[in-house]
Amino acid sequence: MQSLPLPPICPLPSWKQAARFAKEPLELLTECSETLGDIFCLKFPGAEHWAFLSSPHAARQLFRAPRDHLAAAQIHSRFLGALFGTDATFCLDGQAHKNRQKMLVPLLSTKANARHVSLFRQMIEERVLSWESDRVFPLLTEMHRLSLQFLVRLVLGGKDPQFNAQLSERFEHFSALGARSQLVAMPKLQWNLGRWSPWGKIIHAREEVRSLIRDKIVAARRDRSLVEDSILDQLIFKADGGGEFLGDESLIDEIMNLLFAGHETTGGFLTWCLECLAGHPNIRAELLSRLDEVVGDQPFGPEHLDKVPYLTAVIQETFRFRPAGPFSSFRTVAQPIELEGERGRFVLPAGFVVAQCFPIMGKRADLFPNPESFEPERFLRGDHNAYDWTPFGGGGRVCTGRGLAMLELQVAVATIVRKVEIEPVHEQIQVERCGHLLAPAGGLPVRVRLR
Ligand code: HEM
Repeated sequence: MQSLPLPPICPLPSWKQAARFAKEPLELLTECSETLGDIFCLKFPGAEHWAFLSSPHAARQLFRAPRDHLAAAQIHSRFLGALFGTDATFCLDGQAHKNRQKMLVPLLSTKANARHVSLFRQMIEERVLSWESDRVFPLLTEMHRLSLQFLVRLVLGGKDPQFNAQLSERFEHFSALGARSQLVAMPKLQWNLGRWSPWGKIIHAREEVRSLIRDKIVAARRDRSLVEDSILDQLIFKADGGGEFLGDESLIDEIMNLLFAGHETTGGFLTWCLECLAGHPNIRAELLSRLDEVVGDQPFGPEHLDKVPYLTAVIQETFRFRPAGPFSSFRTVAQPIELEGERGRFVLPAGFVVAQCFPIMGKRADLFPNPESFEPERFLRGDHNAYDWTPFGGGGRVCTGRGLAMLELQVAVATIVRKVEIEPVHEQIQVERCGHLLAPAGGLPVRVRLR
């Protein structure tokens, strides 16, 4: 294996690679994939090599590699640990990761959360009714807020709405300051020089959120009458897959990570989905007619989940057409791995970082004919294999919350599209970075009209 070559490296000077990666990651990765093939590397100043994979065959090898060859804890902790804490599923490896997953997966499935569908639909309806027609507002902010408030309700329970409102407001503030700060990608500049310094401000906001969650845990441990069946309560009182109970700080780390992982992603996709439907009136009309056939005059309820294949196809096509991030599923190579690409076999030595570029795969004409066209029907034909399209990652670290995410997207898209017509203010939609994700510029300013 040692005699195999390294993958080809982007020929730009490393400072230029870093500058372009910060500003236009998807453009840089697409260019490299076109010129260097489906396995290539970027090299940033003073950092390790980052290998990117942009074909289903390469992604399959990443997701099927033995678990002890690729680690996620170190690289995830480097970027997320300082903000959200490191004792969480995202930042664990090996047996500790498996034990935590065993605990979380059942709590985040579609089935476990179907009983919350009506509650979520009501939250959406209330919010939609608060939108004044002819007022321009950024849809992204509304969708982030909606998915955060729902997640807070699920994770922290519903007995104390005032607490939930306060936590949502503080987490939103922390997220806007922290998760979208350039400092997240620059651990060496994370100096806490007091409350008014850039990193100090972020740490202060983080501690406000942590202390609210801590109060909730302490209260639940002290007074069992406060306990309900929220995700937090279940995490407090159930042992993990290894028979251990989580301590308070570990619980806070896990909750912080869940709120982060679950709200910007879902809120961002929801925005893109509504944007795609606004830009394709024929597809929106088709969706409304398919919803009418299945849901009729009833409100969308748990019995309608996964019963409208066209709705699922619209969501899947949005994942492909408007990818939320430039890449995902990054790991550190713990033991050298060999990869077979379209232009040869390569070795990734220990210490390299590797990630997959599903947005590039989604634009490959050999996998998705006519890739620049928004066509939900392609997902109704079922002619794609599991590695052609991996917005939730894959293998042993596939997104733990994908069931919940698909539930939220179905309920929200079905409810909103039946209530309002959305009209983006700008005809041309520009894409910009929003933290680690890609979002419509300006948060997608829109006007709405009640139907
Ligand atoms: C549209 C919404 C979402 C998308 C596109 C998404 C996507 C992803 C991706 C790409 C990963 C990395 C997988 C990998 O490393 O191979 C991931 C991991 C994860 N996601 Fe999601 N996610 C979404 C919603 C959620 C929600 C709602 C939750 C929970 C509330 C959640 C919790 C997690 C967790 C805990 C992990 C870590 C899994 C692990 O390392 O084992 N996600 N997600």
